[in-house]
Amino acid sequence: MIVLGVESSCDETGLALYDTERGLLAHALYSQVAMHEQYGGVVPELASRDHIRRAIPLLQQVLSESGVVRQDIDAIAYTQGPGLAGALLVGASIACGLGLALDKPMLGVHHLEGHLLSPLLASQPPTFPFVALLVSGGHTQLMRVDGVGQYTLLGETLDDAAGEAFDKSAKLLGLGYPGGPAISRMAEFGDPSVYQLPRPMLHSKNLDFSFSGLKTAVLTLVKNHQTNICEQDKANIARAFVDALVEVLVAKCLAALKQTGLKRLVIAGGVGANQQLRTALNAAAEKRRFRVYYPELEFCTDNGAMIAFAGAMRLQINPEAAQRSYAFNVRPR
Ligand code: KG4
Ligand code: ZN
Repeated sequence: MIVLGVESSCDETGLALYDTERGLLAHALYSQVAMHEQYGGVVPELASRDHIRRAIPLLQQVLSESGVVRQDIDAIAYTQGPGLAGALLVGASIACGLGLALDKPMLGVHHLEGHLLSPLLASQPPTFPFVALLVSGGHTQLMRVDGVGQYTLLGETLDDAAGEAFDKSAKLLGLGYPGGPAISRMAEFGDPSVYQLPRPMLHSKNLDFSFSGLKTAVLTLVKNHQTNICEQDKANIARAFVDALVEVLVAKCLAALKQTGLKRLVIAGGVGANQQLRTALNAAAEKRRFRVYYPELEFCTDNGAMIAFAGAMRLQINPEAAQRSYAFNVRPR
C-alpha cells in the first residue's frame, strides 16, 4: 500500500510517499523559515499562502523521485491538526482535491501522532512498548506507547512547551527565529558556572512540566544587563537556560521509565534535534541501562514522511479509516 502524506500545520510544507512494503519512497520539504524570520515568528496568513505555492511542486518532486505514478497511490493522509487553521486547510484541500481527482480515499492524521511514530522510520526502530517524550514548539508530553493508537498520557506541560521556551528565550536574547537551534549553538560557548536558572518542577511528584518561569528568569537576566549585553554574556545565559531545561527533561524521562518499568525511551518533535539534550540522554541511558531512540534529524521537525507513515500505520490496523467522503474538516486545537 502506498500512502501520500501531506503536512502543512505550521511553516513547513512536507510531501512524502510511504510504501508499507518498501518503506519511505521519497519525501520533500519546503521550510518557510526565511520568510517568517523578518517578523520574528510565523505569520499565519503568509504561511497559508506559501503552502499553496509549494505543495504541488513538492508533490511532483516526490512522484518523480520515487517513480510512483499518481494512480499507484492507494490513500492520501493529511495533517488534520493541531496547527494553524488556514495552513491546515491548505493541506486538507490539496489532499481532498487529489483524492477526488484520483478517486482515492483520504484520512486526517493527528500531527502529534506523526511526531510520536517518526522514530519508527529509522533504520533500527524501537519496538513497542516504549516511553515517548514529545517535545515540539507547541507540546511537551510524556506518553506510554503500547502500539499504534495506544497512547497513555503520563505528564505534560502546564504552560509553555519546551520548544516555545527555546523560541521565546532566544527572542529575548535577540537571536531571531526560530530560536531553538540558535540558542543551542550559542550555549556551546557559554560558561555554565556564571548563571544558575531554576529547574521548574524538577522535584514535583508527577510527570508534568512548567517552562514559563524559566523564560521569565531569562527575561530578568536580560533586563539586569539593560542595553549593554555582550556576546559572551548572551552565551552564558543561553548555557544556563539550556542546562536547566535539559536537566528537567532528562529527570522527567527517568521518572517516567521508572514509573512504567520500561527500558525504551523515544524522543520526538523539534526539540529532539537538540544536541545538548541528546548528549545528556545518551549519558543517562548508558548509566541507567535503558535505550534511547531518536528520529533521523530531518524527521525531528515537521515533515511529510511522518504523516505518510502514521497514515499507513492507521490504515494497516483499520483499512476503513480512509474514506471517500470529501467533506473534510481540520482541527486546529
Ligand atoms: O516539531 P516542530 O518542528 O514543530 C511543532 O510541531 O511545533 O518543533 C519546532 C520547535 C521549535 O520551537 C524549534 O525552536 C525547536 O523545535 N527546535 C529546537 C531545535 N531544532 C528545532 N530546539 C532546540 N534545539 C534544536 N536544535
Ligand atoms: Zn510538529
